[in-house]
Amino acid sequence: MNILYIGSGFVGACSAAVSADSGHNVLVYDIDEKKIKALGSGDRDVIEAVIFEDGLGDLLIRHKDRIEFTTDYSRVIDFLDTVDAIFMCLPTPEIGETGESNLEYYNSAAEALGENLAKRNGGKQDRYVVIVNKSTVPIAMVDKTQEIMDKYGVKNYGVVSNPEFLVEGQAIVGSIRPDRVVVGAWNEKDFEIMRKMYQRFYDSATVKYIEVNPKEAAAGKLLANFYLFNRLAVCFDVIGRTAEAFSDLQFENLRGIMTSDKRIGNWGFYDSLYAGGSCFIKDARSLSHQLQTAGQNAVLVNETYLANKRQLELFLSRAKNDANVDWSGKKVAIVGLSFKKDTNDTRNSPSINIVRHLEENGVEKMQLYDPEGADLFKYDFPESDKIKYCTSEFEAIKDSDIIIIATDWPQFRSLADAIIDGVDNKTLIMDGRRILQHRYEELQKAGFDIVAIGSPFIKGESAN
Ligand SMILES: NC(=O)c1ccc[n+]([C@@H]2O[C@H](COP(=O)([O-])OP(=O)(O)OC[C@H]3O[C@@H](n4cnc5c(N)ncnc54)[C@H](O)[C@@H]3O)[C@@H](O)[C@H]2O)c1
Repeated sequence: MNILYIGSGFVGACSAAVSADSGHNVLVYDIDEKKIKALGSGDRDVIEAVIFEDGLGDLLIRHKDRIEFTTDYSRVIDFLDTVDAIFMCLPTPEIGETGESNLEYYNSAAEALGENLAKRNGGKQDRYVVIVNKSTVPIAMVDKTQEIMDKYGVKNYGVVSNPEFLVEGQAIVGSIRPDRVVVGAWNEKDFEIMRKMYQRFYDSATVKYIEVNPKEAAAGKLLANFYLFNRLAVCFDVIGRTAEAFSDLQFENLRGIMTSDKRIGNWGFYDSLYAGGSCFIKDARSLSHQLQTAGQNAVLVNETYLANKRQLELFLSRAKNDANVDWSGKKVAIVGLSFKKDTNDTRNSPSINIVRHLEENGVEKMQLYDPEGADLFKYDFPESDKIKYCTSEFEAIKDSDIIIIATDWPQFRSLADAIIDGVDNKTLIMDGRRILQHRYEELQKAGFDIVAIGSPFIKGESAN
C-alpha cells in the first residue's frame, strides 16, 4: 500500500517506520527541515539525536528504500494520485488555561490536504483514500475533518480514527508488538483498508484488534489516558502522601501489599515528583474541556490534573518547610531533564518548572545533566551565567549545595557513593524519584539531609 504520514514527530516517525517494516511504501512529510533531514539521513546517531527511540534508527536504515522523508509539498501532491491512506500525526497541544485543544496545526495540514486531494488524478479523484486521525483529537474531530474535505469538494474518501497508544521510550518495540490496535470507522470499506494496512496485527493472535466507530476510538484514547493519569495521581497524592505523613511507612512496602491484589495490578505504581510528557496532562485538560462544553461536570478530571501540579509544588516547598533551606545563593544540581527515562523528550518535564522555580528564588547556579535530554532542554534554557550543562551526573553534583533528582534514568541509582565520597558540603538531597531509596540510611548516616518524595523528611545524622 502507499501510505502518507503528515507530521514526523514521535508518533509520525515511529508509525511510519513500522509501516515500512510492514512492507508499505511510505512518504513522510513535515515542515521541520532539521528533523526531516535527520530522519532521512541514514545515520542512526543523527536520527536518534532528534528522536531518541530505541530501534528507530535501525528500522529507518533497514527500510530506506521504502520510506522517504520530505519537506517538499510537491512530493506530497504527486503521491496523492496513488495514496491509499493518509495518517495525520500533528501536534494537538492545549490552548492556554481552558484545556481546549489547539487544532491549528491539524487544521492547517487538513486544509492543504483537502485542497490537493480534490485535484488528485487530474481532478477525477477516482482513487479511494482514507484520512486517518492518529493524533489524539477531540471526540467529534471526525466530523470536522469531513467538513474540511467537503469544503474543498474532496470525493471518494473516508475518515478513520486510529489513535496511537505508543509509550515513549518503548515506541518501536510497542509499535511492532502492540497489545491492541484500535480502528474507528463508519463503514466496512474503511475497515477493510485498515485491515490491509495492519494485516500483520489483524492476523496476529496476540494483538487485540478493536473495531469501533471513529468517535468511540477518539473517546477511548482520551479516557484511557485519563485513567492512567488518575492512577498516577492516586499514587502520588494519596499513597505517597500517606507514606510521607506517617513515620515507619515505606512506600515500596505499601506498594507490595497493594499490588498483590490482581484487581489493582502493577502499572504506574510508583511515586514521583510529577507526571510529565506530552500526553497525560493535555489529554486530561482536553477531556475536561469537552465534558464541560457538553454541560457535564469534570471535577475528578480537574482534580487529577491539580493533584499532579500540586505534587511538584509540594516537593519543592519541602526544601524550606522540611529542611529549612533557602534557595537563594545556592548551587543546585538538577540530575535528569527528560520527562522520564529512555527518552530525550522534555515536554512537560518537571525540570522545566524546577528551573523556573529556582530562577525565581534566586539560586546562584544550576548544574544540569541528562544523558539524552539536554539538547532539547537547551531550547528553553540556554547555557548562561546561571545555567551550566554538565557532561555527567558526577560533574553536576560536584560542589553543589542541593541535589535534585528529577528523572528515573537507571544509572542515577548508583549516585550514592559519588555523593558520599565526593560531596563535602553535606548537601541536601531531593530525590524526586525515590531512586536512591535503597541507600537513604547510608546517606543519612553520612550526614546528608534527604527530602524524598513518598518519605517523611530524613535528617542527616551528623548535620547540625
Ligand atoms: N508522543 C506520544 O507519546 C504520543 C502518544 C500517543 C498519541 N500522541 C498524539 O499524537 C500527536 C502527535 O504527537 P507527537 O508526540 O508525535 O508530536 P510531535 O510534536 O513530536 O510531532 C508533531 C510533528 O508535526 C509537525 N507539524 C506541525 N505542523 C505541521 C504541518 N502543517 N504539516 C506537517 N507537519 C507539521 C511538527 O513539525 C512535528 O514534527 C498528538 O496529538 C499527541 O497527543 C502522542
